[in-house]
Amino acid sequence: MKRNLFPILISALFISSILLSYSCKHEPEFLGIVIPVDTIGNNNNGGTTGSTCSKDTVYFAQQVLPIFQSSCALSGCHDAITHKKGLYLNSYSGILSTGGISISNPTNSKVYRAMLNTGEENMPPAPAAPMTSTQLSTISKWIGQGAKNNSCIESTCDTTNVKYSTHIKPLIQNNCQGCHSGATPGGGINLSTYAGVKAIADNGKFFGTISHLTGYKAMPQNGNKLSDCQITTVKIWISQGSPEN
Ligand code: HEC
Repeated sequence: MKRNLFPILISALFISSILLSYSCKHEPEFLGIVIPVDTIGNNNNGGTTGSTCSKDTVYFAQQVLPIFQSSCALSGCHDAITHKKGLYLNSYSGILSTGGISISNPTNSKVYRAMLNTGEENMPPAPAAPMTSTQLSTISKWIGQGAKNNSCIESTCDTTNVKYSTHIKPLIQNNCQGCHSGATPGGGINLSTYAGVKAIADNGKFFGTISHLTGYKAMPQNGNKLSDCQITTVKIWISQGSPEN
């Protein structure tokens, strides 16, 4: 009996050691860290929700995640599949576990320093536009407030004085421009200039894509849908003739 089982035992050990070495070789960064399990586009699980948006608070879901998704978590960069240098910048758990976040010293956080363009890392790499000073302060403020997985509900939508410079341009910078700029912008559409934005406003694709209308590709790609207030703001600007004001 014992004699017959021995070869089976040996081969079972052999096969499992092959399987183990295979999985270790291909996914080494899974060993020491928390595995980011969030699905792209559904990153608010477990976060604080339900509070009314306050001007003094930076919210991860509304303000921070869209910046990371459109500027860092691009395919071939820090998305779930490529995760260059082990950085998963596509979800809350990924940013927290691999982004070198320092709550006590926000501007010393790895991801923040990389965005400063001081020669250290220069992210996102050219020809992508560097992060704006508003985006940088949004991120450092969010970290300083505890880098929480928070989100809020807009109780009011202020649509007075909708302008390109104050409403549309920042919306594009935070949600679209990372993919729609540089040498090979998504769909060949460059949204880093007014002319580019005006073109998709005029052909109906701006409103169609962000409203997820049938016949249009849903944008931001792989991200959460813009809020009703953001969509209404875009609609108002387009109805004014999409001026460069
Ligand atoms: C993560 C990258 C990414 C983000 C963020 C993103 N896009 Fe796109 N977008 C793409 C890619 C890639 C395509 C081309 C898709 C294709 O052809 O399948 C595209 C296509 C488009 C198109 C053409 C769609 C069509 O139906 O012809 C428009 C318009 C557009 N995007 C607008 C936007 C706007 C507005 C935002 C921000 C609210 C945005 N995108 C955010 C990657 C992105």
